[in-house]
Amino acid sequence: MRVIGLMSGTSYDAVEAAAADLELEGEALVMRPLGHLSAPYPDGLRDLIADSLPPAAATVRTVARLDTGIGQAFADVAVRAVRELCGGAAGLVVSHGQTLYHWVEDGAVRGTLQLGQPAWIAEATGLPVVSDLRGRDVAAGGQGAPLVAMTDVLAMAALPGVPAALNLGGIANVTVVAPGAEPLAFDTGPANALMDAAVRHFTGGAAAFDEDGRRAGAGRVDPGLLRVLLDDPYYGRPAPKSTGKEQFHLPYLLAALAAAPVAEPDDVLATLARLTAVTVADACRAHGVTRLVVSGGGARNPVLMGMIAEELPGVDLGSSDALGLPSDAKEALAFALLGFLTVNGLPGAIPSGTGARRASLLGSITPGREPLRLPEPAGEPPRVLRVVGGP
Ligand SMILES: Nc1ncnc2c1ncn2[C@@H]1O[C@H](COP(=O)(O)OP(=O)(O)O)[C@@H](O)[C@H]1O
Ligand SMILES: [Mg+2]
Repeated sequence: MRVIGLMSGTSYDAVEAAAADLELEGEALVMRPLGHLSAPYPDGLRDLIADSLPPAAATVRTVARLDTGIGQAFADVAVRAVRELCGGAAGLVVSHGQTLYHWVEDGAVRGTLQLGQPAWIAEATGLPVVSDLRGRDVAAGGQGAPLVAMTDVLAMAALPGVPAALNLGGIANVTVVAPGAEPLAFDTGPANALMDAAVRHFTGGAAAFDEDGRRAGAGRVDPGLLRVLLDDPYYGRPAPKSTGKEQFHLPYLLAALAAAPVAEPDDVLATLARLTAVTVADACRAHGVTRLVVSGGGARNPVLMGMIAEELPGVDLGSSDALGLPSDAKEALAFALLGFLTVNGLPGAIPSGTGARRASLLGSITPGREPLRLPEPAGEPPRVLRVVGGP
């Protein structure tokens, strides 16, 4: 089945699309990636998202505008993906949508809101759409995150030692696969969220992120600010756990700076990069990780990557490209895989990762132009991901 995955993470920088041919072959899920593309959000929409995220208050009218605008933006990208990646023909679109609110209270997730009305995607492409993948896991008592864990676990199943996958988006999440143990997956804390917020703040909105880590590289870590930031109880909490920009936003950073003032903006950026490196490294050490497979926009930040390497001596650090999953496309491919599991009647959640009572069939299905025809439910879930060929 030819599947398109659509994803925009908490950085809300761009809609990522990735396409792949997916088949179940015995215990293997065989993936043939067909390429990926990235389309920045239109400026007006990006600003509307930025202005609506917590701690800002948004009206229901704004929520409706966001749901439509994001749905239309995803639909445009889906149409491009069908044409540019799939030679004009695909069988399924899987859309993560844009998270506007991940509702965590006392460590439990009460709800999670991804916007981007799938009807626009179904209408524009004529294809069935799987969307809203997180809600079912939440309803089953889970965090609804990180859902990329299924792909990570299948992709790392054959690796020796204790491999872990790390995605550095707005938030950082890890999936740890130790032999003989249930997989673990959780958000370690902010990856780029606070760095992006700081850059926007210090440049008055002229820059959105610290390109190639230049500012962090020019600054010095401030021990006082680092101590204040590391004091956040989130880091000490055991998994399962997840977080988002509801917690790690500009006012959060400004409160930390009020407690531990730092004069130089570049020093703030160096400290925030170190915060990500330390919290990622602590999480890896706690679970005996021997190899770290990295993906996401933060993998393009050499200063951040250098700090993670410093914090984890002896750990083999490399890109997810080595597993056949291009770093920039991995999350979109992971959602393509989840939607594919859903239409084949297979669960996509990993309860030991999300903390759910059971492994749920994820998502809602919007029919395409034709009546909905689902494959016969597959018998056994796959145990390993085999990535073949390439674009
Ligand atoms: N060249 C780069 N240098 C430093 N940081 C980068 C670079 N490219 C991307 N990033 C960071 O990656 C983020 C986007 O990563 P992404 O994986 O798309 O996150 P998300 O899944 O949250 O959208 C940007 O906001 C930025 O912080
Ligand atoms: Mg992104």
